[in-house]
Amino acid sequence: MIDYVSDKISLNNRDNHDEKRQGEAYAPFQNDTNQYAKKFFIESYGCAMNFADSEIVASILHKEGFGATKNENEADLIFINTCSIREKAEQTVRKRLTEFKKLKNKKKGLLVGVLGCMAERLKAKLLEEEKLVDIVVGPDAYRSLPTLVEEAGNGQKSVNVLLSREETYADISPVRMDSNGVTAFVSIMRGCNNMCSFCVVPFTRGRERSRPAASIVKECTDLFNEGYREVTLLGQNVDSYHFINEAENETITFAKLLEKVALISPLLRVRFSTSHPKDITDEVLYTIAKYDNVCNYIHLPVQSGSTRILQLMNRTYTREWYKAKVNRIKEIIPDCGISADIITGFCTEDEEDHQQTLSMMQFAQYDYSYMFYYSERPGTLAQKRYEDDVPLEIKKRRLQEVVSVQNELSLQSNQKDIGKTFNILIEGDSKKSDTDWMGRSSQGKVFVFPKGEQPFKKGDYVLVKALDCTQGTMLGEITK
Ligand code: SAH
Ligand code: SF4
Ligand code: F3S
Repeated sequence: MIDYVSDKISLNNRDNHDEKRQGEAYAPFQNDTNQYAKKFFIESYGCAMNFADSEIVASILHKEGFGATKNENEADLIFINTCSIREKAEQTVRKRLTEFKKLKNKKKGLLVGVLGCMAERLKAKLLEEEKLVDIVVGPDAYRSLPTLVEEAGNGQKSVNVLLSREETYADISPVRMDSNGVTAFVSIMRGCNNMCSFCVVPFTRGRERSRPAASIVKECTDLFNEGYREVTLLGQNVDSYHFINEAENETITFAKLLEKVALISPLLRVRFSTSHPKDITDEVLYTIAKYDNVCNYIHLPVQSGSTRILQLMNRTYTREWYKAKVNRIKEIIPDCGISADIITGFCTEDEEDHQQTLSMMQFAQYDYSYMFYYSERPGTLAQKRYEDDVPLEIKKRRLQEVVSVQNELSLQSNQKDIGKTFNILIEGDSKKSDTDWMGRSSQGKVFVFPKGEQPFKKGDYVLVKALDCTQGTMLGEITK
């Protein structure tokens, strides 16, 4: 998932999970909205899956004659694509809804719809709790949007939160919104069959299902032909991708899929997110090592460094098992970047468990982490079985300690790269200056460097020597 908000671009985007994403209230057809009688505005929160889904929704609405607008004041239809992962994420959405309520009072006929994980979790209750809402649609029900919008237009509140065992939206071409024209997300599977005890996703996204490989390869090929140079294959648990191509009697694992996408062109970089440590195989690691264009970067959420806590979390691996996995990654892909997700203050976590998390971070030498304090979610196993017994100030203090360790590790990791040369894919101007480029290395690090005289453009690869760094950015110069 991408952090769109700052120069620090990361694959998992979770540092901004709970932030309002006004910047993402984007218009895919900014110049041709005038062709459309009606306009929609969509704002997305949460993980990259939600951002990718908003692109599917835009495609469906476009076919119905709705043009996108960046300006909520001129919309006939407002959608908010929501996240339920932590309580704060839901609170942010509720606050935003009160702002839309004001708009609704001003504009007769304006419809407001709630999409995504909060829609799925709260279902029709949302209509009772938030009187301004006209439409509630879960992540597997976007095909029914045209009907629901029509019903709502006739004054009937409408809800569809059916989860599906098959839906992958494979045949719908996403409309790329607010795109840099270089990097894109491609959804490869939906849902999650794991039951991490803290997590609401299995309830909001339903059972795991894999999208047909041919449609993934086609989407990536089309993107490459349109000038894109990097795809991020998305799923809650990409390593359990599994598709049987009956026509050719072929079973496609995640490693095979990765290979198929890598073979589209050596100029197309491939990333993926997220891997569950229990599922990432040697076959995947060897595929990463074999293809230069499969990025040497793995997001490997650890959640906790304590075996006791991992068991309560139902993560199905121990501290030792995770450490062995990190060693295996470094053995097969020596320069691999690794990042993690970490939760502090899970039920019953004591200081010793917490110290184990800190020492795990030192062991794995994460380049980056997405760090959260535990937020109890209704309906999850943890909520039903365990008491949320770590006081908020302790959760926050431990989180602060985790963040400090990570800041130190990120800086060290960047300092180690000074003097080395990296192949950088240019993504666009640097946020701070249009005389500098911003791009990323295979390991996912952000590089900023002067454009100089050479006629490079975004989407080009350049060799950049790292000269200096901050905790979040490498500063360099073009060497060729
Ligand atoms: N499928 C991904 C995770 C998706 S949720 C995976 O398994 O890696 C992203 C992250 O949010 C999780 O990895 C976890 O660190 C965090 N998270 C999930 N539920 C949470 C909760 N109840 N409280 C705090 N953080 C949570
Ligand atoms: Fe949630 Fe675990 Fe599934 Fe990730 S693997 S989405 S943390 S249940
Ligand atoms: Fe949030 Fe749903 Fe993603 S709960 S993290 S938007 S799958």
